[in-house]
Amino acid sequence: MTIGDTDRRAESVPHIDDLWEGDLMGVIVDGKPVVLVNIDGTVYAYANRCPHQEFELSDGDLEETTLTCSRHLWEFDVTTGCGINPADARLAPYPCHVDADGTIVVDVTGGSKPTPGAAS
Ligand code: FES
Repeated sequence: MTIGDTDRRAESVPHIDDLWEGDLMGVIVDGKPVVLVNIDGTVYAYANRCPHQEFELSDGDLEETTLTCSRHLWEFDVTTGCGINPADARLAPYPCHVDADGTIVVDVTGGSKPTPGAAS
């Protein structure tokens, strides 16, 4: 889905009212799994697979800005996509924004990939 292409919204992409602040949600956008996170009204989008062993990040826990993968407890700062533990891992970001009508728009055309980090 291309940012600004308001006629091609995936039905699975929610309205901002469906993603509460401090919450995360897994969705499929144009066939790609995406995890959405709402931090103080700002929505971040990442590939919904952990850089470690590709477990779904949407099954993890979110505490403030730290997302902890439920599989082996790797931690990420969702405001940057950077690993906390391990520090060299990176989430795979997708550009996203919230339209004036509240629709969350995610651009998955770039084929973003996570960085596993040296500990994987
Ligand atoms: S799959 Fe996420 S920490 Fe191992």
